Amino acid sequence: MEFDWRARNIKAPVTWSSDALVASAATVGDRPEVDHALQVDARLAHREVASGALRGAAFRARLLAVPFLERDAWVDAVLGIEEVPDDEPGLPRESVPYLPCGVEEIVAMVDEAPIGANDEFVDLGAGLGRVSMLVHLLTGAPARGIELQPSLLRMGRGLCERLSLPAVELLEGDATTAATDGSVFFLYAPFSGEMLSRALGRVHQVALRRPIVIGAVGFELQNVAWLRARATSCAALTVYELSVSSFSTTS
Ligand SMILES: C[S@@+](CC[C@H](N)C(=O)[O-])C[C@H]1O[C@@H](n2cnc3c(N)ncnc32)[C@H](O)[C@@H]1O
Repeated sequence: MEFDWRARNIKAPVTWSSDALVASAATVGDRPEVDHALQVDARLAHREVASGALRGAAFRARLLAVPFLERDAWVDAVLGIEEVPDDEPGLPRESVPYLPCGVEEIVAMVDEAPIGANDEFVDLGAGLGRVSMLVHLLTGAPARGIELQPSLLRMGRGLCERLSLPAVELLEGDATTAATDGSVFFLYAPFSGEMLSRALGRVHQVALRRPIVIGAVGFELQNVAWLRARATSCAALTVYELSVSSFSTTS
């Protein structure tokens, strides 16, 4: 269950800052105009989300209308994410610092887990809660994120408040010990080693009571007897469901 998070396939950050627009204006003909139109659209979408008007199928259609390479930046603008705080010092050795999962992987998980309005979504190692917010906006499912770093949580809760998303709950805690319940669990390579084993042990306790699936991005859950991997259309995403032997296995 070890992985090297530095080796993850990280997309180059896309930015819509005014500096980036000036730089791209100098090099790429009409690109700033495209970016400008998307920025305006994102600003409008932000207001529509905050008013409760943009949800579910309408939100999805709006997101998928954005050119593929611009979707992460568009989502950040819609959610109101600007500067992300630095990681706090002293993260435990097996914890991975904050890095947001790509929109492509999140949409693939929504489609292929699949996640619907009756699910309960949980992001173990939630960062700003970006995945929880996006899953909720796409599906209507209540979403919970568990995160160690208070500075990320403070910012994430502020975003949820401004967007009027009471069904997105961001909890401070260690995913290996926090109370947990849900039907879809998500891990974007948040930790490794013993920490990962302990967190999976808690998810297994839930799986003994109710059906669950796990979406894992950027790494694989190897040698977990109670889980069976299902490949997806997205190379970085694996969906896990209960293996046949899950009810007789304890780890
Ligand atoms: C790679 S980031 C993923 C963030 C988020 N899931 C996303 O995709 O946008 C991993 C996050 O897990 C958090 N984390 C690491 N160990 C944790 C633990 N034991 N309990 C809760 N959160 C943890 C880190 O602080 C970091 O924000």
